[in-house]
Amino acid sequence: MQAGYEDKLWGGRFQGDVAPDMAAFHNNAVQTAWLLEADIVGSIAHAKMLTRCGLITAQQGDALDSGLSAMLAEAKAGTLVPDGSFEDVHTFVEVKLRERIGDAAKVLHTARSRNDQVNTDMKLYARARCRQLADVLQQLMETIQTKAAQHPVPMPGYTHLQRAQAITVKHWLMAYHAMLTRDLRRVNNAIAGMDECPLGCGALAGTTHAIDRAYSAQLLDFERPHANLLDGVSDRDYLMEALAVLAIIMTHLSRLCEELVIFSSQEFAFVLLDDRYATGSSIMPQKKNPDSVELIRGKTGRVYGHLMGLLTVMKGLPLAYNKDMQEDKESFHDAMETTLSCLTVMNGIIATMSIREERLRDALRGGFMNATEAADYLVRRGVAFRDAHGIVGQTVLYAEQQQKPLEALSLQEWQQFSPLIDEAIYDNIDYAKTMHLGVKREML
Ligand code: ARG
Repeated sequence: MQAGYEDKLWGGRFQGDVAPDMAAFHNNAVQTAWLLEADIVGSIAHAKMLTRCGLITAQQGDALDSGLSAMLAEAKAGTLVPDGSFEDVHTFVEVKLRERIGDAAKVLHTARSRNDQVNTDMKLYARARCRQLADVLQQLMETIQTKAAQHPVPMPGYTHLQRAQAITVKHWLMAYHAMLTRDLRRVNNAIAGMDECPLGCGALAGTTHAIDRAYSAQLLDFERPHANLLDGVSDRDYLMEALAVLAIIMTHLSRLCEELVIFSSQEFAFVLLDDRYATGSSIMPQKKNPDSVELIRGKTGRVYGHLMGLLTVMKGLPLAYNKDMQEDKESFHDAMETTLSCLTVMNGIIATMSIREERLRDALRGGFMNATEAADYLVRRGVAFRDAHGIVGQTVLYAEQQQKPLEALSLQEWQQFSPLIDEAIYDNIDYAKTMHLGVKREML
């Protein structure tokens, strides 16, 4: 037996150990410790399949099952943790199992390669985390909906970040709810796409043993085994898809963050972030900075980076497994952790922030955000919209010179621009009242 055989899975044809720098560079058991549970679960299923197919004895199967089940319990309790001396979690599990149950552990890897094993582990892990993601997304959606329902009041709406037309706080927040609703659908689609089980594809070419891939798939709650053996070990597009979904979620969060940074500034002061989600300055005593939302906006870059990273790792790889693919793990895990923490923090930010309705009312008084509604009124009085646009444009110019909002102009002043204008103009440009007109009702 060659040196190192006992603690690695492939010592036989080697005469020496790997260089210490190579080991440090290549080993990833610690960095992927979060794969441990999935690896044990996959191994339990594999052992059951081997037993059922008569490839190992019932006695061996029982030994594997009880050893692995005990390890799973410890992994869950956090008392079984890989250290850096192991090449990867697969090696760690097999070596630890051997320490516990002896030689029976040596039959576990029958008809399996780490190539199908690692992809099975990753798919189990990605699926579980995506389910968690769906829950956390839903939680944020509920919080947004609750906050929105409390504020069916007008606020300035912007295009080009210039005052445009009044919207409601409720409708503003519910725009993000709508985005997250699509994100949730995307997460569920990504989960639905993780339906093929790689276990049993072997290194790339299956196995001469009469295994039952459908049974392994069923045990691990996949729809079916991979249709193609080579694809089964080479497929990482389920991770790309999930990363793309994470990137889109982060885009949505980041846009919300940008608005919260702007709206919490003293120039706007529409929103007051709770002290629990802000911090101060070490030099400027008066400062209250919106760090929570800035940090989420910043972490968006990190998640995008992981998506680009995986796409780039995969783009030039020949079939089947290549060691480059080990790079999928830390990046996917980090992107998932990052997005989950951003969603959780955003949930707290939204739940605790207050809306400063008096500031919104003040802001609506300037900026002529009811000019379009004035033109709509003229249309109802029989004026063609293009002409109405011109009339109200001239009125705005005049009101600006007078330094008055449209609603402060007298009827005589209005009538200089069109004799069709009557007292009803005031109701038709009142921010709260116009919310009851036409499709604007949807904003209440
Ligand atoms: N540690 C590898 C990874 O994380 C899994 C083992 C891959 N198989 C191999 N033949 N080296 O991707």
